[in-house]
This record gives sequence, structure tokens and C-alpha cells, in this order.
Amino acid sequence: MAEKYGTPLKIMLPYIIEQRVEDLMDLFDDVIREYKYKGQFYYHYPMKVNQNREFVLPIISEGSNLETTSANELWVVKRLWESNRFNSRIKVICNGPKTDQYLALIAELKSNGLDIVPIIEDLSERESLQKFRGQVGIRVDMGVKVDSYWDKKVERFGLQLDELWELGRIKNLTMLHYHSGSEIQKETDILRPLRKAMDVYKRLKKDNPFLDTIDIGGGAPGNYNGKKKYSVASVVRSLIRFLDKFCRENEIPHPNIICEWGSYVAAPSQITVFSVISQKRIPKAVAKQWYIVDGSFQTQLLDTWAIHKQWHVVPVNNAYSKKLTRTWLAGLSCDSDDKYTAGGNYILLPRLEDLESGAKQYISFLDTGNYQDGFANHHCLNATPAKVICQNGDVTLIRKRETPDDVGKLFGW
Ligand SMILES: Cc1ncc(COP(=O)(O)O)c(C=O)c1O
Repeated sequence: MAEKYGTPLKIMLPYIIEQRVEDLMDLFDDVIREYKYKGQFYYHYPMKVNQNREFVLPIISEGSNLETTSANELWVVKRLWESNRFNSRIKVICNGPKTDQYLALIAELKSNGLDIVPIIEDLSERESLQKFRGQVGIRVDMGVKVDSYWDKKVERFGLQLDELWELGRIKNLTMLHYHSGSEIQKETDILRPLRKAMDVYKRLKKDNPFLDTIDIGGGAPGNYNGKKKYSVASVVRSLIRFLDKFCRENEIPHPNIICEWGSYVAAPSQITVFSVISQKRIPKAVAKQWYIVDGSFQTQLLDTWAIHKQWHVVPVNNAYSKKLTRTWLAGLSCDSDDKYTAGGNYILLPRLEDLESGAKQYISFLDTGNYQDGFANHHCLNATPAKVICQNGDVTLIRKRETPDDVGKLFGW
């Protein structure tokens, strides 16, 4: 594919995303049955993780619901709804700050019959949603710190608990929501916020009898660096076991459970392939050679720079070569931050000297399906790569590589 379509190239595999959604829904349903749990499970795909059509369509075809974070994501939902691409029972949760445009679209879709639940994110949203004729949810900062890439000292989303208790009864409240971090590193860190959330849920239910759903947000890892952290099967079992025990002890009905694990579902279904265009000796470092690739980490795999993400990198050809060299990878931008060093370590790759004359060394970054497409940019006017989709034995080019003309137009040329 790299030879046929050129590099940099994104390769998307819808089968993987479909399988992940299906397995996750089956897993929750099986454990729910085993524990005779009375609540239902709903998977909501957080669109921000990857809004591309080739991601969203396979996901909703598996019966997934959606979560949006902006007016424009909801506009995509509107298009899907109007073109009858949806199962009419689909549910949509609206998170994120609500602009007037976002609120108007929520109201419009609700009156057109979509099952849509806006989540109150702060006190002003409570005011704006007073007249909303449907169910609402509320996002609360549980104040539980977890070990994750995105753990922030101060959380900016959701209401603080003291603010929540001052509100009293909230009209049409059915859902309590929190999100405690992405790519959570320990299984216990997925459970700890839920323990706190259920105490809040129990107290909130006293004033809000229609409250029947707990939304645990995102957080399960997408397995970026090839190291397995914990199994999703064991997390799901622990979650249901805890909820069942808590509800029995506190004599409240089992809540429905929503999970918005986005990276877990989307990351493994895309890989990004580069070719090495040259090498350069590194005088004094743990790595011996810079390999300069024909794409950019700062524009195409932005998390390399933003959160120093560790990727799983593999050579595509010469994969079994015994003559390897310690490399750092450098991108096309004229920017010293456009590099990948595996966290100051090195990436072991085949030596370029051993390639047949004229041959290229291709390398793959695995698990690039989450966030990177939405974050991508045009620093140094680097072009967006071509993308192919592999489905039912066929490889189809779904996005052409941007031409200089395409990129120039974005900048008014
Ligand atoms: C509210 C909410 N839900 C879900 C997600 C998806 O998280 P992840 O990709 O870690 O599963 C996020 C990520 O920021 C989020 O803020």
C-alpha cells in the first residue's frame, strides 16, 4: 500500500473498530446478566476522538450511541439523522460548553424526535436549559485524581460539589456524568471515581427521583505502546460488581450505565506509515542516527509533541533484519520539536545501508486512530496524508494527499 499510494499514508481498518464496539457491548451485557443487574448498558462513542465518516459510520452500524462536544459535531449528527442513517432508537449526549448555536441545534433535534440529552456543564447552562423539554444530565467534578496522561491539577469541567448541593431539584434530571481522565493507567483508578460518584448519585436521587443513569465518561487506554495495562474484561466486571453491591447496601435501584471509552475503541483501527528519506549521525546520545521521515509528528501525530505520547513503532519492510540501529525520528517541519525519541529512549530500526539500492525503509506508527486526525494542522504548510480504508478484502483510497494548491487555499493563496 505504501508503494502504491505513497507515504505518508494513513491506513484505516473499520473491521477493528466494529469488533471493539461489538465486544465491549457484549462484555457489559454478559456481566450484567451474570450479576442479574437490573440497569441497562449504553455505549456512547465520543465523536471528538475521531469525527471522520469512516470512523463514525461503522461505529453507529454496530448500534453505538453518540456523545458530542460542539455545535459542529452535532451538525454531523443532524446530517446523519436527516439522511436516515441512524437507528431511530439512537441516543445522543451533548457535552462541552454550550454556545447559542449548540443550544439551538439541541432544541431543534429534540423537537424533530431525536433522543438527545444535554449535559449541564456549569451554572449558566442550567439557566439556558431551564426551558428544555426533555431529559438533562449534569457533569460533576468528582475531585478524584487518577494516573493518566491528561491528569490536570485543577479540573475545568463540571460543577463543584458545593455548587451542586445548592441547586436543589434539577428539572428533568436523569443522568449524573463525570470524566476523570484519558488513558487511565491503573484499573483501580477507573473504580475510585465511580465510588465517589455513587455517593453523589445516592444523595442527588433524593431530590431528583427520575435520576436513573450514571455516565462514567472515557478513560480506557487504546494500547499505544504495545504494553497491556489491564484487561477491559476485568474492569467491566469490577464496575458491575461494585455497582450491584453499592445499590443493594444502600437500597437504591441499579442505575443504567453509560461509558464513553473513545480511545479504546478508535485507536487500534488506524496506522500511519512514513518512509525514511535520509539519515544523520547523532554525535552524543543514546540513539546513533536521526532518521528523517517524509511526514511530520507535529502536524500528523500531534500527541507526540503535546503529551509526549509513546507510540508502538514497527518497521514495515526488513522487519526481520538482524542489523539494527538505534534511531530517533525527525519530521518534515522546520521545527526542532518535530521529532520522536520514544521518551528520550530510542527506536530500534533496520540499517539503511542494508537496503537494496533504490529501496525505501517504511515505518509504521500503530494505534493512531484516536484524536490525531482532529488535532492535525498545517505547520510549515505540510500536507495532510492520503488515507486508504481496508474493508472486505478491498483497499480504497478515501482521501487524496493534499496538493500544494489545496494547502495554499487554506491560507488564502
Ligand atoms: C467527556 C468525555 N468523554 C469521553 C472522552 C474520551 O476519552 P478517552 O478517549 O480517553 O476514552 C473524553 C476525552 O477527553 C471526554 O472529555
